[in-house]
Amino acid sequence: MSFSTKSSERFGRVLEKSPYAVEDPLVKIQYVQRGNNVVFGRTLTGDDHDNLLYVGKVLETAKGRSFLGADAWLDTTFPHVIYITGTRGSGKSFDLGVLVEGISRLSNASPIQNGIQPITSIIVDTQSQFWTLGYAPRDTIPANKSQLEELTRWNLKPNSLASTRIYSPPGATNLLSSERTLQLRPGDVRAEEWAALLGQEVYSPQGHILSATLEALDGRNFDLQDMLSYIADDTNWPNTAESSRNAITYKLDDYRRTNLFSSTGLNVKDLLDGQTCSILSLRELRNEDKSLVTAVIARSLFDILGKHHNKKKMTSFFQNPFESDGTPDRVWLVIDEAHVVAPRDVPSPARTALVEYVKRGRDAGLSLVLATQQPSALDDRILSQVNITFSHRLSFQSDINAAVNRIPTKSVKSMKLLGSGLTDFGDMIRVLDAGQCFLGDQASSRTVLVQIRPRVSAHGGYSPF
Ligand SMILES: Nc1ncnc2c1ncn2[C@@H]1O[C@H](COP(=O)(O)OP(=O)(O)O)[C@@H](O)[C@H]1O
Ligand SMILES: [Mg+2]
Repeated sequence: MSFSTKSSERFGRVLEKSPYAVEDPLVKIQYVQRGNNVVFGRTLTGDDHDNLLYVGKVLETAKGRSFLGADAWLDTTFPHVIYITGTRGSGKSFDLGVLVEGISRLSNASPIQNGIQPITSIIVDTQSQFWTLGYAPRDTIPANKSQLEELTRWNLKPNSLASTRIYSPPGATNLLSSERTLQLRPGDVRAEEWAALLGQEVYSPQGHILSATLEALDGRNFDLQDMLSYIADDTNWPNTAESSRNAITYKLDDYRRTNLFSSTGLNVKDLLDGQTCSILSLRELRNEDKSLVTAVIARSLFDILGKHHNKKKMTSFFQNPFESDGTPDRVWLVIDEAHVVAPRDVPSPARTALVEYVKRGRDAGLSLVLATQQPSALDDRILSQVNITFSHRLSFQSDINAAVNRIPTKSVKSMKLLGSGLTDFGDMIRVLDAGQCFLGDQASSRTVLVQIRPRVSAHGGYSPF
């Protein structure tokens, strides 16, 4: 589908001029003259402009050719690892919403999607603010009012995701009546994760009890109570100190009371039907538990889609018909406040699982979107796979260095802001307003300053919780 030039489908001319004048020319950028569009995340070939989501408008003028006001799009065909950085309030969660709106099935057709085949997504919602994606903004809510005005200015219509599912852990305050309970199956948690969760080394006496118990229960769909019963049975432990068994029993019993685990807990396969966006509202969980939930999701996605693609490859090699079991070809996993679930300096279940996910997820059709206000706090092995960056305002030099290090193209050497010259890229990042960011990808010769579009669904970031 080529880009539209119909005026009813054109976005508003919201950027006629800009205070940001970049001095470095844009030597290479994926530009489509028809309709004045730039594309990030893929190299354009021919007239194929399908599967692009609308992110906003180019906000800079440049020496030589200027693209100010051009509409900016992001590819959704390839599996990406997208890294969004910025201080609190700079627009990171907002971007996550923009991306999810762009890839999801919407209630009404919208020009923010150019020939998009909807993609299944899962949001690790550490602040519990994405439930609003399923709702259009309403003018009765003061915080939505300015959003609606912005949408009008951009010539966009309010919209909502056609299919969302919200999960929250047992005991969390439910805001909607439709939330589902998020529980994990104890059998989906690895022995080393159980050990870490209970503060034990794998090769300690208590770690050994956990491993032996899991091994004994392997192949069954078991509950935490089954683990406790197995540990309580003396005949299973002729050579193990009772004190170690008692200690692990107390700790597991604490977990039993949180109800986070159940043999009927989440089967990640159930999140993969119908191009739905599943939102895991985890605000009320401890950080270790947020990390564990993320690990189970990432690992299961990798297993399920990995097998699916292998099967597809085999059947196509032997030219057999492929019988789909409904598993989608692509999934996006979106993680807000990613430093909370995968910090660099502490071992965590999600850290290990996400390293695997980004390293081998590409072949399995898996994308990852990470947002963080602490770019220096995320594991390097995860970040080494980043191919698209959204760099919002940051203040501290160490964070700026960490964020800039991951930009997959050149940064900007020289820029004028309202006539004053800036020659340090860090200073350029310091002056950005909310919703403005440098977008970096491998298909452009340098990072480009972009104004992110308004959200078409209600944005929950303003809410008091
Ligand atoms: N693209 C944008 N357009 C308009 N307002 C925005 C945009 N991005 C962010 N904002 C404003 O900034 C606020 C903070 O954004 P948010 O994404 O929640 O920040 P954080 O970086 O902390 O996740 C939002 O509630 C919204 O009011
Ligand atoms: Mg946020």
